[in-house]
Amino acid sequence: MTVRNILRMGDARLLRRAEEVTSFDSAELRDLLNDMRDTMRALDGVGLAAPQIGINRRIVIFGVESNPRYPEAEAVPATVLINPVITPLSDATEEGWEGCLSVPGMRGLVPRFTHLRYRGRDEFGALIGRTVSGFHARVVQHECDHLDGILYPMRIADMRNFGFSSELFPDADVRDE
Ligand code: NI
Repeated sequence: MTVRNILRMGDARLLRRAEEVTSFDSAELRDLLNDMRDTMRALDGVGLAAPQIGINRRIVIFGVESNPRYPEAEAVPATVLINPVITPLSDATEEGWEGCLSVPGMRGLVPRFTHLRYRGRDEFGALIGRTVSGFHARVVQHECDHLDGILYPMRIADMRNFGFSSELFPDADVRDE
């Protein structure tokens, strides 16, 4: 088990456009995904993108069964998504609170597309295609943004809705995202 160091906002490596994966079902990819899963689990995250551990590849993982920080959130299946493409299915957006392991201790209110379709490949190169909405759609958009060098604070519509979790939600069980 290897819990990798998470890059934090301000590190220029989080601002790069990550590169496509061209080789699947390899030992290298398997090891990377094991480290990503270990890291996400250890930090109790909902998702993780490879650039967050300094790997400049278009790989994200996400999934949540039930999470104390998102008591209202529906479950999202554990997913490995490589070379993802997101297609919004309408112009509808909704705002929701987000955090990020690369922005520890903070939360922000972020508008995201409500309904979308995403496509990509799993670790074996098999095609994935899903039509999702709500929290699942939000998580995918947040994680895939990391592959284009976008951190959620860049998406906040009103910066008054950005702050420390402990101040915004003083009664909550606050942990880093
Ligand atoms: Ni993030």
